[in-house]
Amino acid sequence: MDFRIEPATPEQRRPKPADESSLGFGRIYSDHMFTMRWTSDGGWGEPTVAPFSNLDLSPASLVLHYGQTIFEGLKAYRNRGRPRTVNLFRAADNAARFNSSAVRLDLPEVDPDVFVGAIEALLELDHEWIPRSHGTSLYVRPTMIATEPYIGLKSTHEALFFIITGPVGAYYPEGFNPVKITVAERYSRAGPGGLGAAKTAANYAASLKAEKEALGRGFTQVLWLDAAEHRYIEEVGSMNILFRIDGTVITPPAGDTILAGITKDSVLKLLASWDIPVAEERLTIDDVLRAQENGTLEEVFGAGTAAVISPVGALEYRGQTHHIANGGTGPLAERLFDELIGIQYGAKPDPFGWIREVAPTGASG
Ligand code: PLP
Ligand code: COI
Repeated sequence: MDFRIEPATPEQRRPKPADESSLGFGRIYSDHMFTMRWTSDGGWGEPTVAPFSNLDLSPASLVLHYGQTIFEGLKAYRNRGRPRTVNLFRAADNAARFNSSAVRLDLPEVDPDVFVGAIEALLELDHEWIPRSHGTSLYVRPTMIATEPYIGLKSTHEALFFIITGPVGAYYPEGFNPVKITVAERYSRAGPGGLGAAKTAANYAASLKAEKEALGRGFTQVLWLDAAEHRYIEEVGSMNILFRIDGTVITPPAGDTILAGITKDSVLKLLASWDIPVAEERLTIDDVLRAQENGTLEEVFGAGTAAVISPVGALEYRGQTHHIANGGTGPLAERLFDELIGIQYGAKPDPFGWIREVAPTGASG
């Protein structure tokens, strides 16, 4: 693919984190970024990889006022056995979801080959930013924003598609240890016909106040219920949610108000291949608490790119905290986590064809 490449000069390169054990999530960015501009008259302009820099943006840009923006999140892993090889996990699926978000937000779609090719071009230049220790990866954040300067409410005629990357460790401070979540009783995240199925800023903006309140009370995340009745389980702020009840894994189906998670899809495919019964169906918070009461709620866990598999050890609803799997990590969450990261790091076979191996030239082991 023909991209304009402007490599960072030695002065523009920044020091890489020395200590991979304290990477955390989302605060460190690699040396390069990808950009491509769009106008309604001219279509997409030149795809460019250049040094990471601030954006030059009019304060009247539509995105800043009306939130016309979409994003994605995916990871590249350094192959365990062959450290010169980079494993990109399900990037084509992220490209497809990016485009379905684009359609919902009335933004232009991106050629999936450009989307994936741009990530590969970044990996080529920034492969040394991919961390080496267990549990780390390079997080990739494709984003599109409406850049047309206009203060009236309308859909944009100009957009910027960009991709930044950065080395990450665990998303939650708990790591793979169980998190505590609280059920949102008052706030809603997404309503029928709204934006819930799109990966767009507004959904996250809608969640911030509730998440801050939850954090202040010692919980890691919020579990969202449906906006109409506040009964049906939807998802957690940054991951989908699954319940193992009496041997069956139950999870609400992706729909209008729930993001179609790629990690959850991977989990469901793994479970099916292990002959573990799965039901993608709506369930209420009362169903979950009833299962907890009668002893059939075996495990609860979240699934998402940033968090991978996140066991839920405590669930709070209406002031009462319920301890799940004795507050520990259940065996299925553990098995799924091991299998997924095994595939992602190339330590286990990839029967579903999820990994795209990228071999940056000049990569050292
Ligand atoms: N739900 C929400 C709201 C998310 O932000 C995410 C994270 O991307 C997910 C679910 C999980 O999606 P995926 O597994 O594709 O990362
Ligand atoms: C991800 O899991 O990649 C996400 O986008 C979640 C985000 C809120 C960090």
